[in-house]
Amino acid sequence: MGRRVLRLGMAGGGEGAFIGAIHRAAAALDGEWRLVAGAFSSDSERNRRSGEGLGVDAARTYASFDAMLAGENALPPEERIDAVTIVTPNHLHTPMSIAALEAGFHVFCEKPMALNLAEGRAIAAAVRGTGRHYGLAFTYSGYPLVEEARARVARGDLGAIRLVQVEYSQGWLSRAIDRDGNKQAEWRTDPARAGLGGCLGDIGTHAFQLAEHVSGLRVDHLCADLTTHVEGRRLDDDVSVLLRFGGGARGVLRASQVAAGDENGLKLRVHGEHGGLEWAQMEPNTLTLRWLDRPAEIVRAGGPGLADTVAVRMRTPAGHPEGYIEAFANLYRAFASRLRDSAATGASAPGSADWFPSIEEGVRNMAFVETVISNAGSDNKWSQLLVD
Ligand SMILES: NC(=O)c1ccc[n+]([C@@H]2O[C@H](COP(=O)([O-])OP(=O)(O)OC[C@H]3O[C@@H](n4cnc5c(N)ncnc54)[C@H](O)[C@@H]3O)[C@@H](O)[C@H]2O)c1
Repeated sequence: MGRRVLRLGMAGGGEGAFIGAIHRAAAALDGEWRLVAGAFSSDSERNRRSGEGLGVDAARTYASFDAMLAGENALPPEERIDAVTIVTPNHLHTPMSIAALEAGFHVFCEKPMALNLAEGRAIAAAVRGTGRHYGLAFTYSGYPLVEEARARVARGDLGAIRLVQVEYSQGWLSRAIDRDGNKQAEWRTDPARAGLGGCLGDIGTHAFQLAEHVSGLRVDHLCADLTTHVEGRRLDDDVSVLLRFGGGARGVLRASQVAAGDENGLKLRVHGEHGGLEWAQMEPNTLTLRWLDRPAEIVRAGGPGLADTVAVRMRTPAGHPEGYIEAFANLYRAFASRLRDSAATGASAPGSADWFPSIEEGVRNMAFVETVISNAGSDNKWSQLLVD
């Protein structure tokens, strides 16, 4: 029997939006998903135009998210959407996620999962209560060579891990473009729509997830400094955090949106007793390993020597670069595979073909944001990261 193409409804991602179009391309890339419904914008005319432009049936281009849930549930099961994808600004993630879960739909949501930890826990409770699946768009953990890095650390190639250094350096908020009509900048600097963190919530969260995912370690204490460089901005635009991991490893997380001139400079380095690895998002198809006792290795996507779990995350032979959209597509494919396997419950092991960032990672991420903010605002040197 052929594989059924899953049906997707989108919240947000209307004309002029950034990430919605990336999600649509990624969901479609492997033929796993078909976009059949949406509430693309709170502006009714833009919503209508967006649905039309995307070839979504006018009857399934809904005036609001709630109308989409009700309208889809009124359809026969064989027509109705399987899952919603939420690509709106952050303040809508919690109400939309909970409403969709309670209406019986699986949820794939953009990061950060919520505005704060209490909201994150409320979504987790709804996931537990409804038994629906919930995935998060921590894009960078979808790259093939991030999986290679994770697998090498997990199988002990580097020895016991001592250092985890992660940097996420952007420059696009170096000026007050949030007050000059830049839509993406405007809500990201508004605490009511972005959440507790500015740069911290927007990209510090990616850095934190990547550091824990690849190292396999969990942060237990941190010491943070938050700054707002652009005058009048209401949320942080620059973050420095010292990290202590369970087991004794130490780390540093730097995230900035005022590193003038920088593009999307996400870079991770992990060092153990025998050597270290380095991966950078702007050169995602190269992983560099350097050793104490032997020459350095350059590992290439699609090349020899990769872990078995990497091949399933690639579509082209070596030398045909895959990137951002494909990394997203890997998460969509894994989410689809989990949904198809109706017996599957809970999260599978990192590395398996149906692994995707889960509710647990989302909640840890929210705990990270809150702990950074409380530590940076206090005289404490170290604060414990408490998830529960
Ligand atoms: N994973 C990643 O790498 C990544 C990258 C960029 C953005 N994001 C996340 O994606 C989300 C969206 O970011 P963006 O940059 O695309 O924002 P954006 O401002 O470009 O787009 C937001 C969209 O949501 C729509 N919207 C707002 N209120 C709505 C409502 N009530 N109903 C339906 N639609 C509504 C807007 O009309 C717009 O189309 C954020 O949570 C952000 O953190 C993630």
